Amino acid sequence: MDLGGWLRRLGLEQYEAAFRENEIDDTVLPNLTAEDLKDLGVGLVGHRRKLLDAIAALRAEAGTPAPLSDARSATCKTAKDTAERRQVTVMFSDLVGSTSLSARMDPEDLREIISAYQTCVADTVRRFGGFVAKYMGDGVLIYFGYPQAHEDDAERAVRAGLEAIGAVGALEFSVPMQTRIGIATGLVVVGDLIGTGSALEQAIVGETPNLAARLQGVAKPNAVIIAESTRRLLGNLFDLADLGLQDLKGIDAPTRAWAVLQVSSVESRFEALHGSGLTELVGRQEELDLLLRRWRRAASGEGQVVLLAGEPGIGKSRLIAALQERLQTELHIGLRYFCSPQRVDSAFYPIVTQLERAAGFLREDTPEAQLDKLAALLVSASTQQEDQALLAELLSIPFKGRFPPLQLTPRGKKEKTFAALLRQLHGSARQRPVLMLFEDVHWIDPSSRELLDLVVERVQHLPVLLVITFRPEFERIWAAQAHVTMLSLSRLDRREGAALVQRVIGEGTLASDVVSEIVERTDGVPLFLEELTKAVLEADDRGARTAHSRVSRTALAIPATLQASLMARLDRLGSPAKEVAQVGAAIGREFSHELLRAVAQRNSAEVDEALDQLVSAELIFRRAMPADAEYSFKHALVQDAAYGTLLRGARHKLHAGIAKALERLFPERASIEPELLAYHFTEAGQAETAISYWLKAGRRAAERSADEEAVRHLRRGLEMLMTLPHSIQKDQQELEFQLALGTPLAAQHGYGNPLVGAARDRAIALCEKLSDTEHLLPSLYGQYGYCIASGRIPKALEYSRRCQSLAAHTGDRVARLIAHRAMGASLLEMGEFEAAKAQLGQILAIDRVETDQALSVLYLADPHATGLAYLALSLWALGYPDQAVAARQKAIKHALDANHANTSGIVGIYAGAQLSVLIGKMADVKNYVENLNAQLGSRVPLLGY
Ligand SMILES: Nc1ncnc2c1ncn2[C@@H]1O[C@H](COP(=O)(O)OP(=O)(O)O)[C@@H](O)[C@H]1O
Ligand SMILES: [Mg+2]
Repeated sequence: MDLGGWLRRLGLEQYEAAFRENEIDDTVLPNLTAEDLKDLGVGLVGHRRKLLDAIAALRAEAGTPAPLSDARSATCKTAKDTAERRQVTVMFSDLVGSTSLSARMDPEDLREIISAYQTCVADTVRRFGGFVAKYMGDGVLIYFGYPQAHEDDAERAVRAGLEAIGAVGALEFSVPMQTRIGIATGLVVVGDLIGTGSALEQAIVGETPNLAARLQGVAKPNAVIIAESTRRLLGNLFDLADLGLQDLKGIDAPTRAWAVLQVSSVESRFEALHGSGLTELVGRQEELDLLLRRWRRAASGEGQVVLLAGEPGIGKSRLIAALQERLQTELHIGLRYFCSPQRVDSAFYPIVTQLERAAGFLREDTPEAQLDKLAALLVSASTQQEDQALLAELLSIPFKGRFPPLQLTPRGKKEKTFAALLRQLHGSARQRPVLMLFEDVHWIDPSSRELLDLVVERVQHLPVLLVITFRPEFERIWAAQAHVTMLSLSRLDRREGAALVQRVIGEGTLASDVVSEIVERTDGVPLFLEELTKAVLEADDRGARTAHSRVSRTALAIPATLQASLMARLDRLGSPAKEVAQVGAAIGREFSHELLRAVAQRNSAEVDEALDQLVSAELIFRRAMPADAEYSFKHALVQDAAYGTLLRGARHKLHAGIAKALERLFPERASIEPELLAYHFTEAGQAETAISYWLKAGRRAAERSADEEAVRHLRRGLEMLMTLPHSIQKDQQELEFQLALGTPLAAQHGYGNPLVGAARDRAIALCEKLSDTEHLLPSLYGQYGYCIASGRIPKALEYSRRCQSLAAHTGDRVARLIAHRAMGASLLEMGEFEAAKAQLGQILAIDRVETDQALSVLYLADPHATGLAYLALSLWALGYPDQAVAARQKAIKHALDANHANTSGIVGIYAGAQLSVLIGKMADVKNYVENLNAQLGSRVPLLGY
């Protein structure tokens, strides 16, 4: 091939010499990688990207036939990091009757036919943004949504399919040609088309291409068959015939399929996509009032323009629908213009379609009939023949014989057409006030844009309200004029968001935590709210959600209806920005510049540029300036979309990088928030490190009485631990988890909760298995406490005895102390006061040492102090009130030494207040309670005791 010419067409001829010096020829070129290009001296990312895309296209053109099944299995082995998960609409087209042709025809002629067919299909789909992935036999495999997603990929595919049928039919060959088309949408893994070797054949993995191929197989000649997955994305844009369930080879379950009949005649995209029943309007009262005020002014002759801006799905069209509804009873003329994402280059597209609709053209109308309808439409406003001819020309209706030919230069014709259209507007406005709606002008074609400029200018002297809607990226030049009002739609607040969810749910119900989760994740964008709610309801219908209210992650995953539009926003920015978004998404909804820089595999200039791009595309917000900047994703769903494209391996790598960077750059954060590292190590697939961080996180949370979090962290770690193979270390670690779980579980559910008992039971079993006497004692004691609290007193005594025999075995001082404490309290509960006194009295003989302060944590309260408190009660019961008071004094002293809230509570209540009641000193009761209140603040609700 002509290398120089190829580079020149790309505008990159400066690299020709380098390519030649490095002997890059036809055989090497298709396999060049980004790395190779760097070596060749292609320094700019933009140039590399251009080259890589062109190389991919070369390879696609040269693609050799390969059966689908081979492609599928080949991919699994070598999925590369650059591969992505994404939603793609796959189209498969095939030439009808090629086998019988091959029997009848000279191979060379056949080859010509097939090649013409493929070129025709490829050219057609490319116009709709389709990507020709490969030629297979006489068929063509095409992706919509890769490498660049568009919010309307499914629609593009179907339109392209219909168009391709026409284009193939119009090819002039000795035999008439027909095509069959199958289309399906789904999540797939798309490989790196720019990789090496036979990468192209490894392009895509997933059921979707297979489904598209099978649907193509059951299509009649010149038919487009689509899968249910595609249909759901199309709203009412097309008229379809339900083909029912189809048994398709290689597809497990019978599959619903639809034949596309034609583009439907629904007036607006908004109605087509949301056709059946709009969600009742939530909020937007002020905006609606403003529009109505502007309408009044306009209707009185002082024409107005309102520029209605807002991101996709924020409710621009919905607000306009509300305005139309309010004006229903008022006499006016409504003119509606819609721009289309597929028609940004079709001159006058919104104008033409408006006229066609208004005139009421039918598909079967002859040109004559169309001219009559057009004349009828125009007659009331204008009778000039030339205008009719100009507009007929605009609508591509042949008018030879009816009107004299237009003898004008192209520029002259355009100006006259503008004038004719403006005359139409004047004519209408003379009859009645006009509500002129121009939607989605971020997709406007240049000619319509020119016209719109004139219209904005003109309406100030006419009874016209012109409302123009667009997305924030559109450059609005009209804003400065006096009769122009700017109106930006912002997100709904939480209350409105919840109300919208409720309206979508209708009669049914969703648990309130599900509703708030939806509101949380959709950030008040009505479209997201609607779609996510619908997805959750559908998942509910499929039984994916169980009786309890927790929503599974899958139910809250990005709905198929939003996939394309979210991905489109990211794809548009090109790969460095997308990559940076992915890194950010892995870090979290919020991320710092510093951490991002440490993790991203790009130099700082590239990172900063990518961040700037993301900020100006309003996908992320920035606070403070680079270096210290903090970023956050504008929407949780954008973050999910970026993250969702990553393959497992890439995710692991990213999270590992983040965890390491956190350890290195933010050690203090790592110790304050061990759960953060635990999370990233978990997602990195590094179980062992993650487990030890979960343990740290659990302990730390328990220390600060964040009991719910503590239990969650510990359970997370425990779950991971259980996936590891058996080993002594594993048992040791499990023991640590079970011990750590006891206190927060007890704090959360009460000492007597079976969960507490289970954790302790397991701890005892592990201690015995590991001959771990050190931890056995606290475990046994903990189980004693559980039994007391749950009213199993004999069991409590049994555990106390086990403490005792352990103490006898080891002779340990603390063990003796604990054993007496537990035995005594159990006996006291059983009313065996003498025996209780004997046990608890022995505590007096055990001296207190400095390290005993630590016992309060391990044994929930200081054993000296609480033991003596119970001794005081036993002594009173046995009839020694004075000795009881003396024991109480000692208990209080120990409690002061222990300086531990729970200890003070137990001693103050039992030995203090309760004993005072028993011995009839009511005045003291008040003192003890007040004292405790002062000490503990509001931590313990004393009245409850
Ligand atoms: N205030 C609202 N109350 C109820 N539903 C709304 C509201 N705003 C938007 N919606 C719904 O959310 C979806 C997206 O709104 P739409 O008007 O199409 O957004 P835009 O035109 O800005 O892209 C539509 O289904 C619409 O009916
Ligand atoms: Mg809209």
